[in-house]
Amino acid sequence: MTDSNIESILHENRSFPPPLAFAAKARITPAEFAALNTEAARDNVAFWTRLAREELSWHTKFKQTLDDSQAPNYRWFADGMLNASHNCLDVHLAANGDKPAIIFEGEPGDSHTLTYRQLTAEVCRFANALKAQGIQPGDRIVIYMPMVPEAVIAMQACARIGATHSVVFGGFSANSLRDRINDAGAKMVITADGGWRGGRSIELKSAVDAALADNGKTVGKVIVLKRTGEPVAMQEGRDLWWSDVVKGQRDRCEPAWVGAEHPLFLLYTSGSTGKPKGIQHSTAGYLLSAKLTSQWVFDLRDDDVFWCTADVGWVTGHTYVCYGPLAAGATIVMYEGAPMHPDGGRFWKICEKHGVTIFYTAPTALRALMKLGDGIPAKYDLSKLRLLGSVGEPINPEAWIWYHTVIGGGRCPIVDTWWQTETGAIMASPIPGVTATKPGSCTTPVPGIDMAVVDDNGNPVGNPEQGGWLVVRKPWPGMLRTIWGDNARYLSTYWARFGNCYYVAGDTAHQDQDGYFWCMGRADDVFKVSGHRLGTMEVESAFVAHPRVAEAAVVSRPHDIKGESIFAYVVCRGTRPTGTDAEQLSAELREFVGKELGAIAKPDDIRFADNLPKTRSGKIMRRLLRAIARDEKITEDISTLENPAIVEQLRGRA
Ligand code: PRX
Repeated sequence: MTDSNIESILHENRSFPPPLAFAAKARITPAEFAALNTEAARDNVAFWTRLAREELSWHTKFKQTLDDSQAPNYRWFADGMLNASHNCLDVHLAANGDKPAIIFEGEPGDSHTLTYRQLTAEVCRFANALKAQGIQPGDRIVIYMPMVPEAVIAMQACARIGATHSVVFGGFSANSLRDRINDAGAKMVITADGGWRGGRSIELKSAVDAALADNGKTVGKVIVLKRTGEPVAMQEGRDLWWSDVVKGQRDRCEPAWVGAEHPLFLLYTSGSTGKPKGIQHSTAGYLLSAKLTSQWVFDLRDDDVFWCTADVGWVTGHTYVCYGPLAAGATIVMYEGAPMHPDGGRFWKICEKHGVTIFYTAPTALRALMKLGDGIPAKYDLSKLRLLGSVGEPINPEAWIWYHTVIGGGRCPIVDTWWQTETGAIMASPIPGVTATKPGSCTTPVPGIDMAVVDDNGNPVGNPEQGGWLVVRKPWPGMLRTIWGDNARYLSTYWARFGNCYYVAGDTAHQDQDGYFWCMGRADDVFKVSGHRLGTMEVESAFVAHPRVAEAAVVSRPHDIKGESIFAYVVCRGTRPTGTDAEQLSAELREFVGKELGAIAKPDDIRFADNLPKTRSGKIMRRLLRAIARDEKITEDISTLENPAIVEQLRGRA
């Protein structure tokens, strides 16, 4: 976030009360919201006890709500037993078996619906197939799939038999996939021949083959869904077609009753080292947070059609595609492809076609669509929309106002939801029908969440002009449990800064005079490119894997559509490339990094230098590099630089 952004946020004084027509029918009234907050403030543990009993279906009731004996490795409802897929599917069958669960829209325009009964049958068939392939409770399964219902079926089937899934975003490269498979020690990979995106078929199976080529010793079986019909190589004895493994399987499968703390999934995310972290989530606590926030924030009613545009490869696709809305018995839309295919009207066309009432997307998509003008959404009937959501990065007031007026016709509240892979579910958001919104603010924490902005000593900041660390002061059920295989990293990353008392989100934030939170972005070496989380070190390691690169430093700069884009400074072996050599090498490096990590990590800018500015102790002066990339005034002391002339070169002027 630049200083001018901070300025504009702090002086944002527009406030939008909940539209009256919405508020009149809202699921949560101001009085109920106040009562929830009072209840949580009086006794936080009792609050979660009541909700866990009311909202989840237990096979064995829990006796202990919060076990803090190993804090900050908190455990919730640990002596209870349940099954996540049972809570998302079976519980709805008696009353709502014929209600649509998933409305699918393929990119080529193919479309079909699965009712809760049909979805349950598919999940059971696939769960039985997994068992037949030898999958046991606790085994890890990597899912690398396009956005098709089978991705959700695979996740739910894992949950049903107590296997722990780890979904890897289909845009990640074979290398990234390999690292995640190995770290998780996965026994199986579930993939597809490919998926449709931007009018092209994107290969997935070939990436799995490459990822498993040189090691992948733990993986015994690969299950392949046929989606695009493009030819793929099938390895005898290892690779099996989805359609073959489900053949003859029963459409009933007794859920595996697992302990509340059983790891439902691992999801890898970027941190400030080169190695992605396997964020481990629990079964009961996660599901409780996912379900409650789906109900509170999205105001889900029986006749709603809820569309969260996130891919299941990200946490938003876990919590608000696969688990939360299904636990709440909602109808969801899943769309396979790109927002711009065949043109920028696709999202709005889908809203019209399927009668979407609640729409949840990322600011980067809104900015890209806003750029195309108001004429495109005007072509579609968006009158069914009643609530809009935003997630993943700060939303700039301009995009917020466009969303509100052009897409929402001024009648839909906007819920700007702040949360993270680690938090499992939404932590701060307006409650539509209750909270007055301000463009760019995620407003206040949801009931039960104790969030604060604190200074370096852990004291509340109190002054709206001053930023601080965003922390959570009490444990909550949906929180991550640990980093898979690296509890020490869990403790040092999230807890050490304030003596294990506060969860440290890694974001900086302001709190205004009304107590509203304004999240300003990351305080660590993590950035958000088109809403996707990437680590500085990951991208730098991708660069240095290229034979011509000796050293690289990567920073981000603001970008109109992507939010942030990657700016890389590269030192080559031998002499600094110039002229056409520099141009060619730039293009080659962009592709190379894309291949190493995935297309989302391709840098927008590459600048070659003779060396990088370092402090006396040898640390790269990232703030200086950031200032240069952003054309900002340099405030660092550069007199200690070995070669001060380097600054002109880094600026691209020498
Ligand atoms: O910096 C915050 C930003 O996204 C980070 C979490 O990224 P990830 O784990 O990929 O999860 C994204 C989807 C939940 C946060 O640390 N972020 C997320 N939502 C918002 C946000 N920043 C500002 N406003 C938001 N609503």
